[in-house]
Amino acid sequence: MQGNESISPDNVSPEEVRQFIKLLKEEDGIDFSGYAPASLGRRIAHVLSVTGVKTVDELRQRVVADKGFIRQLVEGITVNTTSMFRDPLFWSALRNDVFTALTHHQTIRIWHAGCSSGEEVYSMAILLHELGLQNKTIVYATDVNERSLSEAKEGKYSVKSMNEAIAAMRLVLPESDIKTYTRSGYPGSLHFKRELVRNVRFKKHNLLSDPVFYKFDLILCRNVMIYFTQETQDKVIALFRESLLHNAFMATGSSETLSRTGALNDFELVNPVEKIYRKKSGRNTTGSAPY
Ligand SMILES: C[S@@+](CC[C@H](N)C(=O)[O-])C[C@H]1O[C@@H](n2cnc3c(N)ncnc32)[C@H](O)[C@@H]1O
Repeated sequence: MQGNESISPDNVSPEEVRQFIKLLKEEDGIDFSGYAPASLGRRIAHVLSVTGVKTVDELRQRVVADKGFIRQLVEGITVNTTSMFRDPLFWSALRNDVFTALTHHQTIRIWHAGCSSGEEVYSMAILLHELGLQNKTIVYATDVNERSLSEAKEGKYSVKSMNEAIAAMRLVLPESDIKTYTRSGYPGSLHFKRELVRNVRFKKHNLLSDPVFYKFDLILCRNVMIYFTQETQDKVIALFRESLLHNAFMATGSSETLSRTGALNDFELVNPVEKIYRKKSGRNTTGSAPY
């Protein structure tokens, strides 16, 4: 493909995907080479149709001239779909299989990797509060997408999200009322109280290039690795293995199928339906917590 040839938004070729990855790496340092090419091609097509870019030359010019445009590209490529208490059975399994085991720990450290706009973070905060574990828990909520992360910090969601959240939460915590956790004066939306996330540190973090955090009892990384190549999934799971304490837990998306090879061999599957894993003993981390 020549730089001035038109990119087809309907069908981005593997060569165009490769050029796109190269351009972003050169101009911004962000590396999308670990993402599965087919879904990356679809996301690039989506971004091109939204931004109206027609050729690689035009793409290069805009990227060079406007750093904000790179953010727009990155945000368009990363899939940010999420919801509160997404897959309600997962949250019940988390309570029964994980928090029952962690309840006597002095502190509980959780890394919520790929938290998107934060709905899962607020779901987790509510669950911890209801279980009486919030005061001894520290949560790191991270994502590569800055816009999603600022929405997560704000913790303000629409009417549609509110209705979905109420229905999903009823399945997980039937006795509880989401309104206990929201501010009054925002009718028809969910605007969470700041104290609900007082023990949460929101932080921009790229799983494929940034240093990892350490000494976790639980890592949640749901519906994120599904977009990576198998090799990259294995690298990320190896990072998580190093970040987790002895016998600690890791949860992926219920519909995510990760290859049972490589670093995943060091985990046992404690809940095969909800994809909750536990690190086998003898694989403790030596690192220290950076925060
Ligand atoms: C589909 S959302 C999943 C959100 C949430 N975990 C859930 O299951 O509802 C995937 C998230 O992964 C993030 N993501 C993609 N690549 C990433 C990377 N390299 N490092 C960190 N986060 C990444 C995206 O920005 C997006 O917010």
